[in-house]
Amino acid sequence: MNAAVDSKVFKANRLNAGLDPEHMPEHIAVIMDGNGRWAKQQGFMSRVRGHEVGVEALRRITTASAELGLNYLTVYAFSTENWNRPKAEVDALMNILMTALEKELPTLMGNNVRLCAIGNVETLPSKANKKLMSVIQATAKNDGLTLTLALSYGSQDEMVQAIRKIAQKVAEGTILPADINEAAVEQHLFTAGMPHPDLMIRTSGEQRISNYMLWQLAYAELYFTPVLWPDFDATGLYDAIAAFQKRERRFGQTTEQLTAE
Ligand code: IPE
Ligand code: IPE
Ligand code: MG
Repeated sequence: MNAAVDSKVFKANRLNAGLDPEHMPEHIAVIMDGNGRWAKQQGFMSRVRGHEVGVEALRRITTASAELGLNYLTVYAFSTENWNRPKAEVDALMNILMTALEKELPTLMGNNVRLCAIGNVETLPSKANKKLMSVIQATAKNDGLTLTLALSYGSQDEMVQAIRKIAQKVAEGTILPADINEAAVEQHLFTAGMPHPDLMIRTSGEQRISNYMLWQLAYAELYFTPVLWPDFDATGLYDAIAAFQKRERRFGQTTEQLTAE
């Protein structure tokens, strides 16, 4: 199937899914969870198979998001806490990251996707970090979807680093304590310049945030699905967006105020 036909199929799917093109989320954040349970369920001896198949799910969701015209997709790929997993699993995850970065560049280019990363990427093995930087550079001029990988990311750590940077500026006298406001904090987060997620999807049935974008999710709509990440597909994404479109986002106001506007 060529790209033009492919795009028509997706547009048709969007209509079939009943999505309202006027109320699409600008930014979707995803906690890609359930790889280990998927591998177990399928009878694989190792959890690693789930991570490998999880890359395919990420490709599907990235392509579907690009076809829907979303601006930002930010996925939790490896948390600061995930370093505490058995070394063999951490090593396997780093190898999968390397292989995926090598393999997925044509798909990213074909979908006009710009790759970014948030987190302590310098703590990744140097080969993986270099590969990541090269794909970020290669896709930097793409102006479609921005796909951000949260790698060695922890939201509390992100905030600690932001506070430290701001404190340093206060100590140097370049910023006054009175000038520290929400915008100033924003500018010191890994996500500086990025809009906050409108919708956060977590797969695998867990209903928690697990140290993901605690600041940025302040007013996101949360959507939890029991589907395990390796099984998650475009239909699952459309369902999540359809659920999002049924929510009333009040941002502290009342329904009456919103309908009067
Ligand atoms: C998510 O799947 C991937 C990472 C955290 C790297 P898990 O590996 O957490 O899978 P479960 O939750 O144990 O099934
Ligand atoms: C969150 O999943 C991190 C990623 C998906 C990368 P975890 O599986 O690590 O989260 P917990 O431990 O169940 O909260
Ligand atoms: Mg998990």
